[in-house]
This record gives sequence, structure tokens and C-alpha cells, in this order.
Amino acid sequence: MTLYRKAAPDAAALVEAPETEAFRADVLKGLGAPRKSLPAKHFYDTAGSRLFDQICTLDEYYPTRTELGILEAHAADIARHAGSGAKLVEFGAGSLVKVRVLLDALDAPAAFVPIDISADHLVAASAALALDHPALQITPVVGDFTRSLVLPAFAGRRTLGFFPGSTIGNFTPAEARHFLAEAGRTLGPGALLVLGVDLKKDKARLEAAYDDAAGVTAAFNLNLLARINRELSGTFDLSRFAHRAFFNEEESRIEMHIESLADQVVRAAGCTFRFARGETIHTENSYKYAPGEVADLARSAGWEMDEAWTDSENLFGVFLLSRA
Ligand code: AVI
Repeated sequence: MTLYRKAAPDAAALVEAPETEAFRADVLKGLGAPRKSLPAKHFYDTAGSRLFDQICTLDEYYPTRTELGILEAHAADIARHAGSGAKLVEFGAGSLVKVRVLLDALDAPAAFVPIDISADHLVAASAALALDHPALQITPVVGDFTRSLVLPAFAGRRTLGFFPGSTIGNFTPAEARHFLAEAGRTLGPGALLVLGVDLKKDKARLEAAYDDAAGVTAAFNLNLLARINRELSGTFDLSRFAHRAFFNEEESRIEMHIESLADQVVRAAGCTFRFARGETIHTENSYKYAPGEVADLARSAGWEMDEAWTDSENLFGVFLLSRA
């Protein structure tokens, strides 16, 4: 197993600041703005990635088990489209649970390239996968998959991209279009993409999924402040902030915020930030789509929708796209 840290060959990428520097820059910018926000990609340090794995097992968080069920039901169809000897590339690989369903169904996959921003998590998950697939060439890439990447070269017939979990919902629609276009370039001509997308549904079901009774999502959200304390000498008192999640119907998205429970002053990264009581840091958007909207989005980024699969309750969609 070879670990690639720098996947882009251009000079700008080679002098790119390390992860903590990028985090510091985003914290200074996001907390210094009139409407405070932090990019959702910073949730996923080691502690945050573990909390996210826990979220995926919660009763309220239907997306993970529902998508897994759809993948299991249609893995053979996906394998048929991909053909023998396909190269499988997963964007934002996390713990690599879902890709096992595809790997078990594919005929003699040539290689698997998981891409993730969290090196520790990616290496541990890749090592575990290698034990179960000793003959498979696994090449993890540590990188930000929201940027264009040049992947290591390896032999194989068709490239099959995999972007599960409705991570595409964490982008704005414009960013999602950009991601899909970049992914098309990364994967190359003739590529396929299996895309998991959370679907529109009633508000109560959505809000429960992002504000679970056990408080795991709250811990995941507040871990951003703990991460600032750990990495940027922050002075956040987590008991003076609270997790908030609600469905914004106009934008068709769940919004997650961290609300200040008091007027307070906090130091981080050498700067001072003032919070008014009730003021929030906007930490995540999770857009929900109708299947027709996914098709339009894909088409606008150079993909055709070949298949659309859902579950019996139409909670979640798995779409097979091919490059137009
Ligand atoms: C990773 N992403 C698709 C999750 C979501 O549902 O938007 C992140 C998450 N945030 C809170 N719960 C889960």
C-alpha cells in the first residue's frame, strides 16, 4: 500500500500550507467575518472522523444504512456497467465501509484509490481493507478532493468514481457542479460515477437526523471548537456554546450552527473574537435534492444519468452517471 500525500503535480500545490495552516487561515477568516462561519471540511480531524462514524450508526441518521441497502441491492448492476478490471476511485473515503459492497461485486478490480483529507483515518481504514482484499492494489491519496487532483497512474479498463454519503450535499449547488466537472476531469474519458444523494423529505425527519437524542451530532459540531482549542491555542469554553440544526426550506438545506449562549470574548490563533448571546457560527449546509434536480445538476457538469435507484421510502438516491 503506497500513501500519496501530494496528488497535484503543479508548483502551487507543492508549496501549499499544511493542514493546520489551512485551518488557521479559515478560522481567522471565518470568525473575523460579520456573519461567522467555518468550512465543514474541518470537522474531520481524528476525533471528528470518529464522531462521524458514530453518527452513521444512529437510528435518526437514516442516510448511511439506507444508502448501504441500495448499494447492496444494485451492486451487481453497477459491476455490469463497470465491466472487468475497473479502477475504483472514492472521493472522501472516510472509513471505507460502503466501498466494500462495490469491491465484492466488481469483477477483478484493477486498483482502488481512496482520497481523503484525514491521513490517520485513511491509512487505518486502507490497512483494514487490504487485509480483506490482499490481491487488490490500494493507493490511498491524502488530499482535498474539492480541488482537481492528478491521480497516480495504474493499469485498468474503466474508471469508476464513487462519491457516496451525500457529501455532495455539503457543497452549494454551484460548488457541486464544479466538483462534478472536476471529478470528470480527474476520472478521465469514459468514466462512470456512482453518486449518493440525500433526497427531499419531511422537515421533522430531516431535523431529527441532524439533532439526535444521544447528542452525537452536537459533539461532532462542537468538536470544531475543541479542535481550535487543541490546534490554535483557543480558549473556547464548550459549555457556553450549543449545537443548532434546522431545515431551511427556501434553500432546501439543513443548516448546522454553533450558538453562543452568552456575550463572551474568546481567543484563538493569536486573535480575539467577540460573540454576542445568540450569535452563531454557521458550520455546515447539507442540501437535499429531488432526483430530477440531480439529473439536471449532473448534466450541467458534463455527466448523463444512466440509472437512478432509491429505497422503498424514497429517502435516499444512488445515481449512476456516465461522462457525456
Ligand atoms: C458528510 N455529510 C454528508 C454529512 C451530512 O449528512 O451532511 C455530515 C453530517 N453532518 C451532521 N451529520 C452528518
